[in-house]
Amino acid sequence: MHNKKPLMDYRRVQKLQTPLFLTGALLSGVGTSVSVPLAILGIAIMLFAIVIGVLYYRCPHCGRPLGRVGEGGSYCPHCGKALDAPVEAPARSVSVPAYAKLNLTLDILGKRNDGYHEIQMVMQTVSLHDDVTVTLTGGNGIRCRAEGADLPCDERNLAVKAAKAFCEAMDYDDGIDIALTKRIPSEAGMAGGSADAAAVLRALRTLVSPALTDERLEQISASVGSDVPFCIRGGTQLAEGRGEKLTVLKPAPKFYVAVCKPDFPISTPALFARVDGVTITDRPDTTAMLNAIERGDADALCANVRNVFEQALDSEQHERIEAIKHDLLAHGAKASAMTGSGSVVFGLFSDEAACRMACEALQSGSVKTFCAEFV
Ligand code: C5P
Repeated sequence: MHNKKPLMDYRRVQKLQTPLFLTGALLSGVGTSVSVPLAILGIAIMLFAIVIGVLYYRCPHCGRPLGRVGEGGSYCPHCGKALDAPVEAPARSVSVPAYAKLNLTLDILGKRNDGYHEIQMVMQTVSLHDDVTVTLTGGNGIRCRAEGADLPCDERNLAVKAAKAFCEAMDYDDGIDIALTKRIPSEAGMAGGSADAAAVLRALRTLVSPALTDERLEQISASVGSDVPFCIRGGTQLAEGRGEKLTVLKPAPKFYVAVCKPDFPISTPALFARVDGVTITDRPDTTAMLNAIERGDADALCANVRNVFEQALDSEQHERIEAIKHDLLAHGAKASAMTGSGSVVFGLFSDEAACRMACEALQSGSVKTFCAEFV
């Protein structure tokens, strides 16, 4: 990226180079017959004229060399911009949406030696989103602020962790400011923190290193959290391993989603720990879900929505989650399940109006609802 102001611009080089060169030639010519130091001074002036040409006879927009002085017209041969057009300041700030995810399936295959669990899940991005603005401050350090939720804004926040991981991976050490506008509920199983982290990484790529591939960004993001790599590309994906091994799938058939957040959070590590002590009896058929998506079969997709975490809830949580699922199905949802480690329960609708009506009906003092759609 060309963003440093040069010591001398191309116009000044144009004005200086010929007189300097002629003066140098004259001095060195005269000097050869009358004084050696004069000749050396003449050669030095000619060299100086050549060096400033190489260093500073460059396009003010893209920074690439313009060729020989006096050659060509008033447009850059590389970027094609008019040389006298105002130079745009490089972007210092980018705002990106951070979309939430749902689990269409979630299966836990076993516990690994590193303490994580081997999982297999089909995930889907939905339109419910936070807004993330990243600004390069030119100062030092990473600053973060959040509105819309009471969140820690230090290294416990995945957005800050992501900015740190990017700086380390890319050897970048200028200041970064992160502003989060939160809408995705926390401790809900919708990857709200991971979505923000992925948005920070995508914004930093735009600002600092546009050539970085999605795959490289996913690698950098894996150290931030298990769900972050999925959130880099989003859409419909199969996640395996601890969540970082991704297969991009065909976009799932479109559904509207009633998102219901009951007034209790569920801690992901705590629920993973409970899973180890229960016998899972009802597992998702992940292959059937993948086939349904491949065929674009909305009914088969609905028939295969399942989350094994529901079997690890304590009895009170289980009762509340089941009641919401029941209400969603009674209001016309084609499928309903908890997402991730909860506590959000979602219902899938093919009809937007029915989805809105279900959201209105289920909204209460103890359940907050959001209407969203697959994106
Ligand atoms: O990777 P992340 O920090 O998001 O994971 C949070 C916690 O969830 C981990 O500390 C671990 O207890 C649990 N976890 C797990 N297996 C996974 C993903 C997360 O046990 N595949």
